[in-house]
Amino acid sequence: MNVLKTGTKEGCGHGGCGSCTVMISKYIHDNDQLVHYTVNACLFPLCAVHGLAITTVEGVGNPNTGLHDIQKRMVQSHALQCGYCTPGFVMSAFALLRNNPNPTRDEVERAFEGNLCRCTGYRPILAAFDSLTKEGCPMGEQCCKKFQTTEQGTQEVSSDNSCSSNIDSTQVPIFPPELKTH
Ligand code: FES
Ligand code: FES
Repeated sequence: MNVLKTGTKEGCGHGGCGSCTVMISKYIHDNDQLVHYTVNACLFPLCAVHGLAITTVEGVGNPNTGLHDIQKRMVQSHALQCGYCTPGFVMSAFALLRNNPNPTRDEVERAFEGNLCRCTGYRPILAAFDSLTKEGCPMGEQCCKKFQTTEQGTQEVSSDNSCSSNIDSTQVPIFPPELKTH
């Protein structure tokens, strides 16, 4: 893996840091559903991805075409310093939201169990992802689940939804139709 040019980073090379996290997606014929998993790319054998779609952080967002909402929240919460671990955290959050658009705080924390950060500390990272949960948002009164800006101005909205309900669905990669035949 060329660690300088790819979004996915190799840290330990032994399954211990999560910086190489990517999402794999599988089509389940029985119930016509997609399921998504995170794996450590440094350990996952190439032969095991037969029939599966792989999404790396390049498929989630970038500065040229626009950051994904998960990435924006990390920036807003100052949840990175060197950024080496960031693609792994982003992919863990992305896979979690694909399977579960309204995660609880516990589910968010469990999703990051395999991701290590050596320089930022976990508080700002958790603050960024806390905004995806029903329970919390570091944006306080600016929280998008409390206020929504439309052409008519800023209005208070229901707080029943988590912030993740505002994520732009057009940024979700399409599952390759040819893989549904496997
Ligand atoms: Fe550390 Fe893969 S590089 S888990
Ligand atoms: Fe440097 Fe996490 S931001 S390792």
